[in-house]
Amino acid sequence: MTDLLATSPDTWRDRTLDPPVVPPELAPPTDASWGERWHAFRQRHDLRRQRAEDVYSASRNPDRGWPVAGNKEVLAFFKDLFRTRRRAFAALVVLNALAAGAGLVVPRLLGELVNTTVEGTGRPLGQLALVIVGVVLAQAGFTFVAQRTSTLFGQDLLSTAREFIVRTILRLPLGAVESASTGDLVTRVTRDVGTMSRSVQYGVPMAIISLLTVVMSIGAMLLNSVVLAVPALLTFATSTWAVRTYLRRAPKAYITEGSTYSRINTTLTETVEGARTVESLGLSGKRVRAGDDDIDVSAQAERYTMSLRNILFAALNFAFQTPRVITLLVGAYAYSRGWADLGQITAAVLYVEALADPLDRLISEIDRLQVGAASTSRLLGIAEVRPDRTAGDRLPDGIDLVGEDLRFAYREGHDVLHGVDLRLAPGERLAIVGPSGSGKSTLGRLLSGINRPRTGSASVGGVELVDLPLEVLRTEVALVTQEHHVFIGSVRDNIVLAREGSTDDDVRAALSAVGSLLWVERLPQGLDTMIGSGRFALTPAQAQQVALARLIIADPHTLVLDEATSLIDPRTARTLEGSMNNLLEGRTVVAIAHRLHTAHDADRIAVVIDGRIVELGSHDELIRLDGQYAALWRAWTS
Ligand SMILES: Nc1ncnc2c1ncn2[C@@H]1O[C@H](COP(=O)(O)OP(=O)(O)OP(=O)(O)O)[C@@H](O)[C@H]1O
Ligand SMILES: [Mg+2]
Repeated sequence: MTDLLATSPDTWRDRTLDPPVVPPELAPPTDASWGERWHAFRQRHDLRRQRAEDVYSASRNPDRGWPVAGNKEVLAFFKDLFRTRRRAFAALVVLNALAAGAGLVVPRLLGELVNTTVEGTGRPLGQLALVIVGVVLAQAGFTFVAQRTSTLFGQDLLSTAREFIVRTILRLPLGAVESASTGDLVTRVTRDVGTMSRSVQYGVPMAIISLLTVVMSIGAMLLNSVVLAVPALLTFATSTWAVRTYLRRAPKAYITEGSTYSRINTTLTETVEGARTVESLGLSGKRVRAGDDDIDVSAQAERYTMSLRNILFAALNFAFQTPRVITLLVGAYAYSRGWADLGQITAAVLYVEALADPLDRLISEIDRLQVGAASTSRLLGIAEVRPDRTAGDRLPDGIDLVGEDLRFAYREGHDVLHGVDLRLAPGERLAIVGPSGSGKSTLGRLLSGINRPRTGSASVGGVELVDLPLEVLRTEVALVTQEHHVFIGSVRDNIVLAREGSTDDDVRAALSAVGSLLWVERLPQGLDTMIGSGRFALTPAQAQQVALARLIIADPHTLVLDEATSLIDPRTARTLEGSMNNLLEGRTVVAIAHRLHTAHDADRIAVVIDGRIVELGSHDELIRLDGQYAALWRAWTS
């Protein structure tokens, strides 16, 4: 079942060699009797249930990718949300009970009205009419206040839940984010956050309100007349099996459905990101087929949840509709026997009528809560990924960066670095060269504290990089890659995020250091101009300069540059060269170099081959050594 937790390579597998994603047993028979059709439907339903159970158990503890949290965690999460808002919750219950209670008095009054007019036994008409108007007004007032409280309560729950999710995502270990499928994470933070929000915001308050109304209506029916309440209660009781079966199966079914959406998004994002490869290798047919397969699998999961809902709703409709008729029949009999008067019968029928609506709502809210709970398990699953670091309280003593016996594996048992030792002298320029895939970027990531080495240590001033609080780490060493990001926000926001509390003067100084102050001041609102996706569009060079200004503000003493300028077009590169030089000024620099002239200008050069440093020294020393570097240099200069 791991195919539902696909990672990038899985989506590129040639699926034409696999058995069809949807086995023929899952296609409904075309030419069959009603009996055979029913039998086939039962079989399909069982197959889909089996699949949902398999997917669920596989996704609790997947080998890779994001797990799904258990019911206990989901319950604890909601309990926590409620614990901190006991008062608001109490207000919600009391106000809604008052509104429901006022609503329940009305049928009794109408019953009395019938008694007054038909039998002349109730209160006088004028008095009754006044009471009814008063009760209806009170109900309107309570309903208004109760709705307001529920909405506020829902919004408050929602914001806390959202903040929790954002915090969780921000502290995810980078390594875990990179090795799991993006489609899954994206689906969880978009669709699952959406469905969870809806159920928290509307589902929870509405379910509470409907439940209150139902319980109070049943109480009112019993108070009105026990005999007349019996038929309704009996038929409701028969529907409990349907609800229980549904509640047992729905969570797994909805979690499975969610995982199929993840799968669709994984394949889709892979196709979009690899669009050029798809085009040049003529793979579009295969990718479309892969997408269709994912949709077919997802449709099966949807059919299963739909059947669960249909069976539930059919059973419940039966249970809700029959009491209308039966109550009237029992009422007629009770009237003839003198057990109930016309007013009680009227009230009982009105109650049964009035119950159908909140019961219906209760059931659909329960369904919504199931969907929400499934999404919540998927979101809480992300929280189960343990952080790869906990900040200690030791601060570095000095600025020397030392790597000792560094080993690292992206996949267990496959080290890509094999015991690298490297000691940087403060202020030096070190270039790292070597063939593609030799481990240069990996070494850069360890030296900048992005990943924790499997063995050995990468430390600054005697403290392990990954044990530093992130805001301290940023001011020690930073990794600069091609992927700079402009966040949606003002130019100022984009720069001060590297060091909170920076003044406008600091920001201007940083911009001026990278040669951008002039164009920033010419922007429509200067530092306040909103940039980022959908806002004022920066050129690639400007975006890169903003990223560099951010680094100047962070002011790390050591920079690790991974391909900082090689992919940019030459004109942009020339603009940036000056900005870059100002940033590098006075800092220790590790430059992962693909162009040998960068290496030539460095103080020392480390040649990395197959995860080991095989040569280390200045350009002249390595040329004299006449080894790998010298060969590269000769090839490059000839
Ligand atoms: N996220 C990853 N998951 C699994 N393996 C990876 C990952 N990133 C890199 N590797 C593997 O680790 C090894 C070292 O990769 P690395 O990116 O450090 O090489 P590099 O020297 O930077 O190469 P290049 O010059 O192409 O940038 C390679 O075999 C690569 O396939
Ligand atoms: Mg690299």
